[in-house]
Amino acid sequence: MDFEQLIIHRQSTRSYDNKRSISREDLDRILQAGALSPSARNRQPWKFYVADKCSDKFMQVVSACQSGGANACLSDCSAVVVVVKQELSVVDRMAEMLADDFRPYDIGLAIAHMVLQAKSIGIDSLIVGWINVVKMRKALNLGKKAEIGLVVALGYAPADYQLRDKNRRPLDQTVEYI
Ligand SMILES: Cc1cc2nc3c(=O)[nH]c(=O)nc-3n(C[C@H](O)[C@H](O)[C@H](O)COP(=O)(O)O)c2cc1C
Repeated sequence: MDFEQLIIHRQSTRSYDNKRSISREDLDRILQAGALSPSARNRQPWKFYVADKCSDKFMQVVSACQSGGANACLSDCSAVVVVVKQELSVVDRMAEMLADDFRPYDIGLAIAHMVLQAKSIGIDSLIVGWINVVKMRKALNLGKKAEIGLVVALGYAPADYQLRDKNRRPLDQTVEYI
C-alpha cells in the first residue's frame, strides 16, 4: 500500500477479532515507528507501556478506558499501548516558561507514526483519549504526578469491517494559501 492509500485505509477501528494476537515482532515494529517520531528538541518525552491480551495488566488498562459503553471494543483488541508523558526536568520547565509545552504535540506525532506503521502491516487501531487517569495510574503502578497521554488499541478488524468515507471538511475550508 502506498502512503496515500495508507492514509485512506487507516481508520478508527471499533470492532476487533478477539481470537487474533499480534506477534512481538510486529508490536516492536509499531513501537519503533513511534520511537523514531520527531519531538521538540528531540526530547522524546514519552514512555510506551504495552500490554498484549495475555498480560495480566491488559484488562486493567482496558477498563480504565471504558465507561458507560464507551470504548467497549477495546476488550476484543490484541494489545494496548499507553503513552505516558515524561516529567519535565528543571531545564525543560525553564524552557517551557518561554515557549509552549510541546509534549502533547510530540505524543500525537508518535501515535500517528504508530497507527500508520500498524496499518502498513495490516494491523488496525483506535486512538483513545477517554481515560480514567486515576484507574490508569493504578494499572501502571504510577504515582499521582504521572501524566497519562493517550492509549492506542491495536488489533485486527473482522473480515467484513467496512472502510468508511473520511468525514472531513473540504480542503478549501481548511487551507488558505497566503
Ligand atoms: C486524541 C484523540 C482521542 C480520541 N479518543 C477516542 C476515544 O476515546 N474513543 C473513540 O472511539 N475514538 C476516539 N478517537 C478517534 C476519533 O473519533 C477519530 O479519529 C475521528 O472521528 C476521525 O475518524 P477516523 O479516525 O476513522 O478517520 C480519538 C482520536 C484522537 C486523535
